[in-house]
Amino acid sequence: MATAITRCYVDEHPKCAERFAQAKEMFPNGVTHDARNQSPFPYYVSHAIGPHKWDIDGQRIIDYKTGHGALILGHSHPDVVAAVTEQMNRGTHFSASTDLEIRWAGLVQQLVPCAEKVRFHSSGTEATMMAMRMARAYTGKSKIVKFEDHFHGWHDYAMPGQASGLGGIPKEILNTVIVLPPNDISVVEETLANDGDVAGVILEPTGSHMGQRPIRPSFLSELREVTRHFGVVLIFDEVVTGFRTSKGGAQGYYGVTPDLSSFAKILAGGLPGGAVAGRADLIDMIQLREDAEFNQNQRISHNGTFNANPLSAAAGSTALNLIATTPVNDVADAMASRLKRGLNEMLSRMEAPGCASGVSSAIFLKLGVDHECDGEVCIMSPEDERKAEDGALKGALTMSMYTHGVDSGPRFLLGAAHSERDVDDTVEAAERAVRDLRDEGLL
Ligand SMILES: Cc1ncc(COP(=O)(O)O)c(C=O)c1O
Repeated sequence: MATAITRCYVDEHPKCAERFAQAKEMFPNGVTHDARNQSPFPYYVSHAIGPHKWDIDGQRIIDYKTGHGALILGHSHPDVVAAVTEQMNRGTHFSASTDLEIRWAGLVQQLVPCAEKVRFHSSGTEATMMAMRMARAYTGKSKIVKFEDHFHGWHDYAMPGQASGLGGIPKEILNTVIVLPPNDISVVEETLANDGDVAGVILEPTGSHMGQRPIRPSFLSELREVTRHFGVVLIFDEVVTGFRTSKGGAQGYYGVTPDLSSFAKILAGGLPGGAVAGRADLIDMIQLREDAEFNQNQRISHNGTFNANPLSAAAGSTALNLIATTPVNDVADAMASRLKRGLNEMLSRMEAPGCASGVSSAIFLKLGVDHECDGEVCIMSPEDERKAEDGALKGALTMSMYTHGVDSGPRFLLGAAHSERDVDDTVEAAERAVRDLRDEGLL
């Protein structure tokens, strides 16, 4: 039976419903990304500018999904639009090296502590796949340790440890990935001590799902120490945290330097792009040597039609230059603090169980649980986590927020385009959502 929240969404979005009827005949579940699955139908967006987007039914939305985290500058930042437009006119693909890729990689080297060398890709999935392969090629070992629920894209080696979607992955590959619980260094230490075939350890350095289930910050330095001790490559997957948690990513924020890092999203300024950056001797597993045996059996061959393509390089280098030279991160962080404060005050005022927490500009609203929270790294018991992650509650929150003009669900990825007014309107929308959830008996 449709709830009041769903009815409101359905009534206000007839054109979206119409599009979905067509899309269902084209795409699995009618969508082109698993995260866009939404019952009874997803929304369709016509255009966006700064912190706002408009759906095809004409509703203006304050956007916190921000290009799945790519748009720390907001939608269609004028400098990025100008750079990409100029590049469109000069050419989109030269099948050749460009000055743009040198500028782009130079900014990565300047901003990211581990980045002695860089290799560009077209997505974060490719970047983590390459980082894992570099670890294996360099060490001559075959296994990768990753952590429960940490997301590194959809390739075969990234999927173990995810709640669903393992279809088609050979069991031989599944057997090369060891999934451990996060935050317990003794389990990692024991694993590396007992298994001499581990090449690398990869994690989302603020915790799974962009930091929703946070890492204890000390876990990062513990991992650094233990991986160094066992000669295992430490990989930070900074696809989300890169250029966000700080200009230098989570590694800059926490002062722990991994051997390799994967990047995408903000890296490419809102266009497709990815990169692996890190220690030169690891990245140089791609470099040809005057050694036929190395080239044949150890070197990683790496092509890719759109590696460092001129449009992504123009957008990415413009975005990274703004991050390097203007207070993009400071503004995003200030707006995030204002949002976190506003949401927590609202929850207290409404006497609603829950909290808003998160590091820098990634904020998470966890409803339905009374628990300890220091506002930044909110680690809950597994039981509380299950309650806060309840699908019905999350789905209703997402839809209610949307009908009140905010696209966030429980996760808010802020950027420099969000204003104080946007943030205050968002807190107001969240208050209305809390009332809706109460009316439906969900909170
Ligand atoms: C931490 C992390 N790693 C890797 C990926 C995969 O990146 P892409 O979607 O560009 O393939 C994502 C995507 O959201 C991510 O959040």
